[in-house]
Amino acid sequence: MAESKKKPMLDVVMDLLMRRGFIAQTAEIYNNGLAGFFDFLPVGMQLKQNIEKAWREFFVWSSVDPLIFEIQGAVVLPEEVLIASGHVSSFSDPLVACKQCNAEVRADHLLESQVGMKTEGMTTQQIQAAIMDKDVKCPECGGDLAPVEDFNLMLKTEVGPSKNSKRAYLRPETAQSIFCDYKRVYQTMRAQLPFGICQIGPSYRNEISPRQGLIRMRGFTQMEIEFFFDPEEPTHPDYDAVKNTKINLITRDVQASEATADDSIEITIDEAMQQGIFPNNIQAYFVGKVFEFYQSLGIPFESMRFRNLLKEETPFYSMGNFDLEIKLDMGWKEAIGIAYRTDHDLLVHGEHSGAKLDADIQKSGQKLKKVVPHVVEPSFGVERALYCVLEHAYRPGIQKGAEKEKESDREWDWFQIQPHIAPFSAMVYPLMKKPELTEKAIALFSALKKEGIPVFYDQAGQIGRRYARADEIGTPFCFTVDYQTGEDGTVTIRDRDTMKQIRVPLEDCVPILKALVRREKKFLDFGEPI
Ligand code: GAP
Repeated sequence: MAESKKKPMLDVVMDLLMRRGFIAQTAEIYNNGLAGFFDFLPVGMQLKQNIEKAWREFFVWSSVDPLIFEIQGAVVLPEEVLIASGHVSSFSDPLVACKQCNAEVRADHLLESQVGMKTEGMTTQQIQAAIMDKDVKCPECGGDLAPVEDFNLMLKTEVGPSKNSKRAYLRPETAQSIFCDYKRVYQTMRAQLPFGICQIGPSYRNEISPRQGLIRMRGFTQMEIEFFFDPEEPTHPDYDAVKNTKINLITRDVQASEATADDSIEITIDEAMQQGIFPNNIQAYFVGKVFEFYQSLGIPFESMRFRNLLKEETPFYSMGNFDLEIKLDMGWKEAIGIAYRTDHDLLVHGEHSGAKLDADIQKSGQKLKKVVPHVVEPSFGVERALYCVLEHAYRPGIQKGAEKEKESDREWDWFQIQPHIAPFSAMVYPLMKKPELTEKAIALFSALKKEGIPVFYDQAGQIGRRYARADEIGTPFCFTVDYQTGEDGTVTIRDRDTMKQIRVPLEDCVPILKALVRREKKFLDFGEPI
């Protein structure tokens, strides 16, 4: 394990994810596959689905006032939509190519890595000037660089037979189909402001150098909420639920000075609200909720901070952008963005399409009025969340034969993933591949599956090796049917985190596992360690 500790964590985790069947490079059997795209294999897909389910439960199903409606838009959008949204003209990154070896890299990333320059908010011209000024060369061959260009990140396609084909793009964010469907949802769901429309689905960006595994991909999944409200009543009905939530925050003032640029303060949502840091309590509400959500996924409080983006980093129409940054081995990384997009999107789509994207406001004793709602948008990347969760859940194994320092030390690398999102909640094993054991184990496996609990059955190999395999993919519990099961109707449950085992009645396994996964009870509440 000593060798793996020297490697950057990104390589350690990505390597494990490949080897343990979480993910594979898309079409890897052909020339190592397509860069920037990953397929999710059974273990990884289960983890990804569990994160999406946890998000849905946390943000969508738990919200009854206001309501949040979920949609599923097509991944292809006609060009008109993306002209209106501004993506065709300005959704680009600065690209620089080497005159000698033709390597192509992101110019801002090159400045950050070669001269340690902060590039947030810099224009293409400023990046070009800095490259010349610092005499930055090609990272591959040291050759001279061509002028910096704006490279549009959208993947173009055509829809229909060639003569009558229509220009279209793979959507670069899920948000745009929400704006296009806004009026239909508003009318058919008889929605009233404030309300939200959300979507979980794929987005595509032709990233210049997707070299950071699941952090920067060309095809990835977003979970976005567009929260619509009356600009004259910018209040979230559930604000009180988060007002005492503590967060770490980097304010704009702090970033203004080089010396303190990275300093965050611990503050409650309401204190930040009182200090005028948030433009309204809807954005404050989502900042608090997001901080709570990522803690529930296992990211420690001190490894997260919200950064109030600088004015030059925010689009002209935005009245506030806050990014949740998570501390990784490679540094602080943006994991989600919460933007107050005002009425910009509904206005531009209204202008370009001719549709009336408004809402009725009827206050008692007043005439009905029409408003174009304002929007706060929390935007999450699923794979980035998944990676951050795994890097924080990674526990290196100890050297073979070395003395344990902690009770949980073991000789294999493992993932301490939170039980409710772990790929499998439990493994079910017969101690040996004997009919009197396998029959009961399969019956237990089937009973757990029928309850919709993700479980896996494995009867091959030594039991110790099977426990290690369970740990390696982050499985919190293992049930084993042994010879005592036939005598007294009990099975063992092994707890991943402590490696302790207890015996419980076979018929109680379903409710016990549910209670453990929901963290309603602790492991040792169900029995004495064997
Ligand atoms: N609708 C707003 C929007 O899309 P964004 O900051 O461009 O905002 C939101 O993206 C989130 O989507 C990011 O915080 C990140 O988690 C994820 N994301 C963006 N680009 C990504 C990429 N190339 N690979 C993986 N995740 C990405």
